[in-house]
Amino acid sequence: MSKMEDIQRVCLQRGIIFPTAEIYSTLSGFYEYGHVGYLLKKKFVDYWREFFVKSDDNIFEMEGCTVLPEKVFVASGHLKSFVDPITQCKECNSLYKADDFIREKTGILVEGKTPKEMMEIMRKKKVKCPKCGGELAEVRLFNLMLKTEISPVGGQTAYLRPETAQNIFTSFHRVFRSTRSKLPMGIAQVGRSFRNEISPRHFIVRIREFNQTEIEMFIDPGHFECPKFDEVKNKKITIFTRDAQKKGKKPITMTAKQAMKIVKNEWLVYFLVKEFEFYKSLGIPENSLRFRHMLPEETPHYSGGNFDLEIKFDFGWKETVGNAYRTDYDLKKHMELSGKDMTVLTEDNRKIIPHVVEPSFGIERTIVGILLHCYIEDKKRGWNWFKFPAVIAPYTAAIFPLVNKDGLPKKAKEVYDKLRENFDVFYDDRGSIGKRYARSDEIGTPFAITIDYQTLEDSTVTIRNRDSTKQIRVDIDHIKIFLDKALKSLE
Ligand code: GAP
Repeated sequence: MSKMEDIQRVCLQRGIIFPTAEIYSTLSGFYEYGHVGYLLKKKFVDYWREFFVKSDDNIFEMEGCTVLPEKVFVASGHLKSFVDPITQCKECNSLYKADDFIREKTGILVEGKTPKEMMEIMRKKKVKCPKCGGELAEVRLFNLMLKTEISPVGGQTAYLRPETAQNIFTSFHRVFRSTRSKLPMGIAQVGRSFRNEISPRHFIVRIREFNQTEIEMFIDPGHFECPKFDEVKNKKITIFTRDAQKKGKKPITMTAKQAMKIVKNEWLVYFLVKEFEFYKSLGIPENSLRFRHMLPEETPHYSGGNFDLEIKFDFGWKETVGNAYRTDYDLKKHMELSGKDMTVLTEDNRKIIPHVVEPSFGIERTIVGILLHCYIEDKKRGWNWFKFPAVIAPYTAAIFPLVNKDGLPKKAKEVYDKLRENFDVFYDDRGSIGKRYARSDEIGTPFAITIDYQTLEDSTVTIRNRDSTKQIRVDIDHIKIFLDKALKSLE
């Protein structure tokens, strides 16, 4: 069993993440978070907000609808360009995402090629359906948006948003004016997006309903310097340059200042540095993180340059954060189609359309990255466990009575009731203490607090550290300070 398969097994067994409506087993590419998974996702979002949003007094937040009118996507270009090439077996009807399929079967990169050109490659290389050996139909383009009709009599076409970003663009002017803001100004949003993916795969890495945390940073194109660049200029990031990709060379680690020669955009580099630090603090090692400069033929229709943060998964590297310089593309297009003014008056009286730098994080891919890199296969301990940093661990502590008698459960419940006011904690008195440690470690709980006979005498408890398994004695009144400190230390 691969590490990823083992993690999926744990996720199912512990009800962390599991398929949607699994009793009917019909829809692929849809997943649910159970209690522990929900806590993990919530902690991740809270931490992301602290790290990227609340640390900046000019980034505001919003929450938009997931259903948006067709015109939004006419303007954004998604109706025309948000397409994937698809091919289908003429015999068994299996569907394949043609670009991935051709790359896997022939090693040829087909980004930017027309469906006709892709078909020619498949013919030349004699590619057949891997399931039944059947012939494959002509490659055609398939729009990934999920369509719906609004109103009981229909007639109003709408789409489930494929990115949270479009709510931000269509609401930009109102948010900008109502917050009495100045550029540079950011709008952040956490929410669901939908893509009718041709072949969902790799657990929750490619699914049809997923969560994003996005920031659109609106910038005066006449003043593109980032006021916080100095804070990051000497910090290091790893970039897989276009040149290195073409020549089969390795990614290069460089300072933010050096990265400016390639990225040529202070805001973009600023976000790359922040992301690198953020992902390392989530437990993903530096050598499993890199920014890939997208090749011109892969760069999205709206972008003036993309640097994807990729994580090394056990099936290969995969984009987890899309970083794009979206220029004034979206605001300009919405201004043209809606007829509404999207311009901003600068302090020196210039009428401009702001330019946009966008870091777009995928929550599910991040969660898989965390699960994979924090999973410790521990023969010595006798069970596998997650080394989640305390700040994102679903539960901060488990509370156990040493034995189920002599007033220890009552005392343990008192401790539990006190702590649950401030922390996510759970109480467990089933089975042996060893089994309880195992259950607690398995879902990545950083601390296990045990109430024993000494507790009844001097009001102290033992706190076991998940990573070292070492125990210390702490006064009951000091547990809160201890856990608060642990949550701030990011370990
Ligand atoms: N607003 C820009 C945007 O949406 P993207 O690169 O298409 O850019 C951003 O998506 C992130 O959203 C990706 O890096 C990925 O983490 C996540 N994502 C995209 N499609 C996904 C899918 N089908 N399943 C899970 N996550 C997905």
